[in-house]
Amino acid sequence: MPNPVVPTNSIFKEDILKGKVAFVTGGGSGICKGMAEALARHGAKVTIVSRTLSKLEAAAKEMRASTGGEIFAVAADVRDPKQVQEAVEKHIAHYGRLDILVNGAAGNFLSLSQHLSFNAFRSVIEIDLIGTFNTTKCCFPYLKESKGSIINVSATLAYNGQVFQAHACAAKAGVDALSLVWANEWGPLGIRSNCIAPGPIANTVGMSKLSPGEADGVRVPIGRLGEVRDIEHATLYLASEAGAFVTGQVLIVDGGNWLQPSMA
Ligand code: HXC
Repeated sequence: MPNPVVPTNSIFKEDILKGKVAFVTGGGSGICKGMAEALARHGAKVTIVSRTLSKLEAAAKEMRASTGGEIFAVAADVRDPKQVQEAVEKHIAHYGRLDILVNGAAGNFLSLSQHLSFNAFRSVIEIDLIGTFNTTKCCFPYLKESKGSIINVSATLAYNGQVFQAHACAAKAGVDALSLVWANEWGPLGIRSNCIAPGPIANTVGMSKLSPGEADGVRVPIGRLGEVRDIEHATLYLASEAGAFVTGQVLIVDGGNWLQPSMA
């Protein structure tokens, strides 16, 4: 039976992820919250993970209401392998399986390289890149069992050497690379590994923190800013049978924005 709370305007079938279970880091806010909601709205049971349990619990409550789906909240800092391992174990104790891993936890801010402290650079590498490795390594046995799918969340910043973004460029270039390596290493085990690189997405922390002056999207070839919905669609494509023969891809969802020259 279709879930009565599911909005009827989805361009994907409502039950394409029925029986699937997802683990979404960064899933309590921003783009990754939208990704988690899209998975739940299309039949998946979802665990959302980030550092602060109170914020996560509030997000989970809201997401249960907006999707009608099952949302489980577990706190962990992706920088700490022990916390991630415990979070994955809680997820498995709760749902018993894992089919879709979304590595979305990220941190960022604007700074020229000469003003970045050693710790500031390391912090972003640790959250975005090492956090992605930690989480995937802990999830691997369960993804192997389910022949699951990994979706890493990257960014287009590194493709044109975005100024003020040395830390995020270095981290996200590494995330792209891991996505390809895992496709190669684990494809024979039935695991698919892909990456989504969102461009400027309206009403997100990333947008207000990183591109506060770019509110109308006129520089974007497609002529508008992205919406979280655009990233949701890419997520559903890659996570579902629609993407069954797709692995090792970095899917840029940015309206062509990265083709524009770097803005100083
Ligand atoms: C320079 C900064 C800074 C800033 C923090 N630091 N903010 N340096 N400019 N604006 C420095 C601190 O001084 C410190 O260095 C070091 O970074 C670690 O900061 P902490 O606050 O102690 O660490 P922590 O609490 O772990 O915070 C991590 C963070 C933070 C990355 C710095 O911003 C964060 O947690 N953000 C999460 C939310 C977020 O940013 N979301 C946006 C994601 S957007 P010192 O030397 O003083 O100890 C995104 C999209 C990317 O990722 C692509 C978009 C297109």
